[in-house]
Amino acid sequence: MHYFHYQDDELFCEEVPVREIAAREGTPFYLYSHRTLERHFRVFDQAFAGQEHLVCYSVKACSNLSVIALFASLGSGCDVVSGGELFRALKAGVSPAKIVFSGVGKTVTEIEAALEAGILMFNVESAQELLVINEVAGQRGKTAPVALRVNPDVDPQTHPYISTGLSKNKFGIPMGEAVDRYLEAARLPHVRVVGVDCHIGSQLTKVSPFRDALQRIKSLVNTLRRYGMEIRYLDIGGGLGITYEAEEPPQPADYARAVIGVVGDLDCVLIVEPGRVLVGNAGIMVTRVQYTKEGQQKKFVIVDAGMNDLVRPSLYNAYQHIMPVRKTDGAAGRAVAVDVVGPICESGDFLAQERPLPPVQRGDLLAVMSAGAYGFTMASNYNSRPRVPEIMVNGSRYQVVRQRETYEDLVRGEIVAVWEK
Ligand code: LLP
Repeated sequence: MHYFHYQDDELFCEEVPVREIAAREGTPFYLYSHRTLERHFRVFDQAFAGQEHLVCYSVKACSNLSVIALFASLGSGCDVVSGGELFRALKAGVSPAKIVFSGVGKTVTEIEAALEAGILMFNVESAQELLVINEVAGQRGKTAPVALRVNPDVDPQTHPYISTGLSKNKFGIPMGEAVDRYLEAARLPHVRVVGVDCHIGSQLTKVSPFRDALQRIKSLVNTLRRYGMEIRYLDIGGGLGITYEAEEPPQPADYARAVIGVVGDLDCVLIVEPGRVLVGNAGIMVTRVQYTKEGQQKKFVIVDAGMNDLVRPSLYNAYQHIMPVRKTDGAAGRAVAVDVVGPICESGDFLAQERPLPPVQRGDLLAVMSAGAYGFTMASNYNSRPRVPEIMVNGSRYQVVRQRETYEDLVRGEIVAVWEK
C-alpha cells in the first residue's frame, strides 16, 4: 500500500503531481512519500503490538535524516552498521538507548563512538570482535552490552548476494560454536551479555525460513538461560520482502504472527530490524528520457539516471517497475520491449532490459517504482556524476531533503598533489 497513484493519467505522490516537482527541481531525483513511510511504520509496529518489542529501523535501506527522524518520532530505534550510520541516527534524534550496532567489521573508533553514545547493544559477529569490544570498553571504564549474532544456517531462498544466514556466508557466529562463545563472553569483565541476535537475509517472500531460524535460536536462548545468562533481548534482524514485480510476500501481520508463534513465550523484548519493508515502496526515482534509438537488435530508451544513481537492476538483475509519469491515450496497448539504459559508459548500465513500455519520446518523464530502499544509499559518483536530490512529499507540499550535489561537491577534499623537487 503506497500513495503513488494516477489521477487523470498523471502520476501523483500524495497530492503533488510528480511532473511539477520535476519541472521545478530538475531530474533525476528520488521522491519519498511521508504518508506512506508513516503508514508502513505504523502497520509494522502494530503487527507486534501484543508483544514487548522495539522496531529498530535498518538505516542502510534509506539513511536520509528526514526519514530516520520521521521513524524516530513514531517511536522507532535504529539498526546501524557503521560509525556514519550511528552519527546519522543520533543526529536525527534517535535515542541511543534504542540503537543496535550490527556489522562484521566494526573498527575500534566505531566501537568507541557507540560506547560513548550509550547504545542499547552491540550485535557481535566474531570471537575476535568480542575481545576487542571488551578491551575498548575496559579502557574507557565502560561495560558494553552485547548480543552475539548467531548464524542459524537456514536458506532464506533469496538472491545469493543478500542471503546472510547460510553457513557459507561471512555473517555471525556458527550455531555450533554459539554456546562456547557465550560462555566466553560471560567471563569477560567489560561486556555484559544481554541478548541473542540473528538476521538471515533480505527480500524474503516466505515466513518459513524465519520460523526455521527462530526455532534454532529459541533452543539456544533456553540453553543459555540454563547456564544462568540473562537473555533480555531477542533481535531477529530484518528481511521481510516487498512486491517489486509479482512477489506476494507475507503481510507484516502474518510475519509477526509467525515470529510470535515461535518465540513469543520466551519473555524477551523482541527487536526487529526492518529496512526494505518500511521504505522500499515509499520511494520512487524519477528520470527523464534523453534519447531513443534503435540498435540492430534492440530498442533503447536512454534516460538521465544511470547505475550510479540506482544500482539494483545492474547489480542483482533486480526488477523494478517503470511507469510513465504521464500516460497517453491508448499507449499501453502499443507497448514494445525496450532496454531502459543510463548514460554511464558500461553495458551493465541499465534500469530494465527487454521491458515492454508504451512508446516514449525525448523529454518524457519515467518513474522507477519501489526505489525507496537501497536506492539512494547505494548511489555513487561514478563517471563523476553528482548524486541526485532526495525529495519528500507530505500531503500537498514537498521539501528537498537532500540537495542535488554540485561539481564542487564532487571534488571536495581532493588535492592536486604538488611534489617538491
Ligand atoms: N539487519 C541486518 C543486520 C541487515 O544486514 C539488514 C540488511 C537488515 C537488517 C535489513 O534488511 P531488510 O529488512 O531491508 O531486508 N542492497 C540489497 C539488500 C541488502 C540487505 C543488507 N542487509 C538490495 O538492494 O536488495
